[in-house]
Amino acid sequence: MVRKIVKYGEPVLETKAKTVEQFDTPELKQTIEDMFETMYAAKGVGLAAPQIGLSQRISVIDISVGEDETKKLVLINPEITFREGEQVGEEGCLSIPGFREPVKRANRVSVKAQNERGEQVDLEGEELLARAFEHEIDHLNGVLFISHLSALKRDIIRRKIKKLQKAGEWD
Ligand code: NI
Repeated sequence: MVRKIVKYGEPVLETKAKTVEQFDTPELKQTIEDMFETMYAAKGVGLAAPQIGLSQRISVIDISVGEDETKKLVLINPEITFREGEQVGEEGCLSIPGFREPVKRANRVSVKAQNERGEQVDLEGEELLARAFEHEIDHLNGVLFISHLSALKRDIIRRKIKKLQKAGEWD
């Protein structure tokens, strides 16, 4: 089921999400299925559970946007174990639609996470995938990409969003 994506301003997006402790449950399976459906419907490459209003440490990523089944990644309780290099690229977020800004990220990232069955998985990503790992794991820590911008840029975006909220164009 496609779920509603919550937008910037909702406290759940800026709250550290809770560790998942129950694996192999129908609820977890359903949440992950819904997250992929919601992400594909919005044409995103990643989605974190807080973005559908769930404060749980779950992220899904597919940098092929549904073109390649083998690119589907599920990260439960993920942690970054290694970072290397640097890249700067335009970044956006489904919870902050309409805004894209250059963000500096590591160019290579290794992640330790769990899968739906609670088994440990080790993942590595470069370039876009490294960026997605950092962006989606940030979400689980209540951090949005605009936190990585200068205070000036962030304030401009915040002001624009406030106007959209007042106009009823941000919900
Ligand atoms: Ni995002």
